[in-house]
Amino acid sequence: MARLRIKAISLFTAFAFVVSPLAPAFAASPAPVEAEHGMVVTAQHLATDVGVEILKGGGNAVDAAVAVGYALAVVYPTAGNIGGGGFMTIRLKDGKTTFLDFRERAPLAATKTMYLDAKGDVVPSASLDGYLAVGVPGSVMGFETARERYGTKPRAELLAPAIRFAKDGFTLEQGDAATFASSAKRLAKDEAAAKIFLKPDGKTYSAGEKLLQPELAAVLSGISEKGTDAFYKAAPAEAIVKASQAKGGVLAKEDFEQYSVRELKPVECNYRGYDIVSSPPPSSGGVIICEILNVLEGYPLSYMGYGSSETVRAMVEAMRYAYVDRNAALGDPDFVDNPVSKLLDKGYAKEIREKIDPYKAGKSVNLKPLGAKESVETTHYSIIDDEGNAVAVTYTLNGSFGAGVVAPGTGILLNNEMDDFTSKPGVPNLYGLVQGEANAIAPKKTPLSSMSPTIISRDGKPFMVIGSPGGSRIITITLEAILNVIDFGMDISQAVNAPRIHHQWQPDRIYLEPYTLSPDTIKTLAAMGYSFDDGSGPPQWGQAAGILVGGKSLADIGKGGGARYYGAMDSRATEGAAKGY
Ligand code: DON
Repeated sequence: MARLRIKAISLFTAFAFVVSPLAPAFAASPAPVEAEHGMVVTAQHLATDVGVEILKGGGNAVDAAVAVGYALAVVYPTAGNIGGGGFMTIRLKDGKTTFLDFRERAPLAATKTMYLDAKGDVVPSASLDGYLAVGVPGSVMGFETARERYGTKPRAELLAPAIRFAKDGFTLEQGDAATFASSAKRLAKDEAAAKIFLKPDGKTYSAGEKLLQPELAAVLSGISEKGTDAFYKAAPAEAIVKASQAKGGVLAKEDFEQYSVRELKPVECNYRGYDIVSSPPPSSGGVIICEILNVLEGYPLSYMGYGSSETVRAMVEAMRYAYVDRNAALGDPDFVDNPVSKLLDKGYAKEIREKIDPYKAGKSVNLKPLGAKESVETTHYSIIDDEGNAVAVTYTLNGSFGAGVVAPGTGILLNNEMDDFTSKPGVPNLYGLVQGEANAIAPKKTPLSSMSPTIISRDGKPFMVIGSPGGSRIITITLEAILNVIDFGMDISQAVNAPRIHHQWQPDRIYLEPYTLSPDTIKTLAAMGYSFDDGSGPPQWGQAAGILVGGKSLADIGKGGGARYYGAMDSRATEGAAKGY
C-alpha cells in the first residue's frame, strides 16, 4: 500500500514537471491596476481615493496611510476604526524599515481570570461583547506617531477627508450595506451604536442611502485641531470611561492617559533571495510567516506546482509546526521572552523538515499542546509612493464592529481585542483554538495578534507590499500571496484572489476555500491521512491587499515590466479598490 502511494505521488510530480513549472494556476482574476507614481489598495474605494489624493498632493506613503486610516474609520466601520488598534510596517526610500505597534493594551484593572466565573469556567462572550471586552484603543496615537515621525503633512490635511465623510455622509454601496445587515442584531443591543448604524425604525440602511456620523465628525475635528490629547485626555476618553463603568467594563481615565505607541524593529527573514519585513511580537504574524517560509524553502515548490498534493502537504506540515510555536510560545515582548531568533533560524526549519514524513500526514496530537484563537473583522491596506516609500497597515476592532458598543456622544465603535488574550489556557475560544500562558491577561499587556503587514524587497528595492485580515488565517493568507508570486508565478491580482488552504495545528484539518483543490488532489491527500474542513468553520477568508513593483508578475518583471506599480484588491472585498496615479 505504502509503495503504491509513493508511486502515485512521484507520478504526480512528474506530471507537474512536464506541464508547467511556473504556470499560474488561477488565471481568471481581474487585471492588476497599473500606475507610475503611487498605488493605494484598501478594502473601501472611498478610502482608496483619499490615499491617492494625498499622494497626488505631495504627501508621502505614510501621510496617505494616516489619511486612509482615519477615512476607513468612517467609511468602513466594521473594521476601520479609532476605537481599536493595529500595526504599521514602514519601508522608507533609503531602505530603512520600522514598525509601529499601536495595538490595544489591557486596562490597568484587567486580571488573568477576568473572563472566568466563580467555578473557573470561561463566561461565554464576556471577552467579545460589551465593555469588558474593550482594550485601550491605540489607533489615534498610532496615526499621529506615524505622521509626526515619518509623515510630511499637517494633521488637519490628513483628517479632513474623514471629517467630511462623517459630517456630510457617504453613499453606501451594496457591500457596505451588507456589513450592517450582518451585524444588525448585535448593533441593535447598544443604543448609541443602533442610533448610528440602524435607521430610527431599527431597519438597516440599503445601498444608495447615506450614512452620517456627526458625533464621530466632532471627535475627529477635535483630534484635527488639538492632536491626540483631544482623544486620550478629553471628552472621548471621559465618555468611554463613563459608559464602561456604567456597563460592566473596567476602563479608567489612567488607561487612556498612559497609552503609548511602541516603535519596534520589524521581523526580517530571507526567502529565496527576497527580503521579508513583517510584524514582530506582539504579533505572531511576521515570525510565523518567516518560520513557514524557512521550512518551505527546502522544497522546490514551483516544480511541485500550485495546488498539487505535494505542495499542499509541504505547506500544511510547515503550518502545523509553526502554529504550535505561535500558540504556545509568543506574547507581548514587554511581558514574555519570545524565542524569536530560534523560530527564525534556518537550522530550526531544517529540523522541522526532517521531522516531516513525505508520505504520511503529520498528527497534531503528537506535537506540543496548546493552540490559538481569533476572530472576524480587520482590514489591511497597502500603499507605495513616487519616491518608493512603502507602508503596510493592518488594523482592527477584532470582531466585526468590535465589542458592538459606542460610548454615547462619541460615535466611536469600541474594539473587543481582549478576546485575543488567553482567557484560560487550554480552553478553545469562539474559533475552536486555545492559547497558552505567554498570552495570559495582565494590566497594560497587549494581546498576541496574527496581523502581518509585510513589505518585501529584492536587491535593496521594494518588491511587494502585502497583508490581510482573517484572524488566525491572516498568517497563511499573507504567506500564500507571497508564495503565489514568488513560487507559482502569479500576477499580483491572481496571487491575492487565488483560492486558499489553511492549517493551524488544531483543529487537525485542512481548511479549504471552495474549488481550491481538485477531487483527485483531495483523494491523494486523504489517502495520506489528511482530513478536511467540512465547511462548518467560520468563513474567515480575509481580503488581501497587494502591490507589486516593476511588473505585474515575476515573469513580467523579468521581461522589463510595463508600468512601475501594480496593485490588486482581493475580490473578496466587494467595495475595495486598488488605484494609482
Ligand atoms: O490581531 C489579530 O490577530 C486579530 N484581532 C485579527 C482579527 C481579524 O483579522 C478579523 N478579521 N477578519
